[in-house]
Amino acid sequence: MILIDGKKIALELREELKRKIVELKSKYNAIPGLTVILVGEDPPSKIYVKNKEKFAKEVGINSEVIRYPANLEEKVLLDKIKELNNNEKVSGILVQLPLPKHIDKRKVIETIDYKKDVDGFHPTNVGNLSSGYDSSIPCTPLGCSLLLKKVEKNLSGKHAVVIGRSNLNGKPMTQMLLKENCTVTITHSKTEDLKTECLRADIIIAAVGIPELVKGDWVKKGAVVIDVGINKTEKGVVGDVAFEEVSKVAGALTPVPGGVGPMTIACLLKNTVDCFKKLRK
Ligand code: GUN
Repeated sequence: MILIDGKKIALELREELKRKIVELKSKYNAIPGLTVILVGEDPPSKIYVKNKEKFAKEVGINSEVIRYPANLEEKVLLDKIKELNNNEKVSGILVQLPLPKHIDKRKVIETIDYKKDVDGFHPTNVGNLSSGYDSSIPCTPLGCSLLLKKVEKNLSGKHAVVIGRSNLNGKPMTQMLLKENCTVTITHSKTEDLKTECLRADIIIAAVGIPELVKGDWVKKGAVVIDVGINKTEKGVVGDVAFEEVSKVAGALTPVPGGVGPMTIACLLKNTVDCFKKLRK
């Protein structure tokens, strides 16, 4: 069984981005800029944003975090986004989710210039991805696909089962797998007989947020299993995959932590560099 080392692969990606940014700096006399907006005091969001800032700085991105109180007026946020859209030093804009309830998430996402949408949440990017055109791709599924390609060079014709249908993970993951010519089954928490669906899979992407849902006897021998889950339980943080059991049958498996998690931020940095390049085309 191959243990897919997300920590190492994310580090390699960041090193590659660092080199690319040096090249871009000499070519354009400018560097990519990422602005992250955090509204409120959600504890996990505060940690994510801090890490995004830290890693962005480390690779040479001009990183800025704007922090607002939870009672922020929606209009102030929308005006700030419009200002950032027009600021040529800013290549990427990320508004950390979840937002306070009085702020319309959809309006916020649609206000971000799709060319600076490093999350890939803007409807133009969602549509471009589903049409198979060039687009920003949400960071977590992008990270999953980079991990997948490390162990499975040719995905064509493979049967992939995606567990979870969120806009953040399941749906964009499905689109990416289709683009690679996989046969994709989308399943979710209401799917009947998930075990039978999973047993057909050459590739399983578990992104449903149910601790250790995927059991050892759900997995075909040699299948590649990518675990997107981050679930806090009494025994600590676990994924959506029963790691010990599944490691005995899978051909390759990502651990939690140290699998998909580190790739998500590295892919945010990749999207920022890609937006910088596209804005100059
Ligand atoms: N909150 C949790 N994950 C994400 C993400 O990928 N992007 C944004 N903007 N907020 C999040």
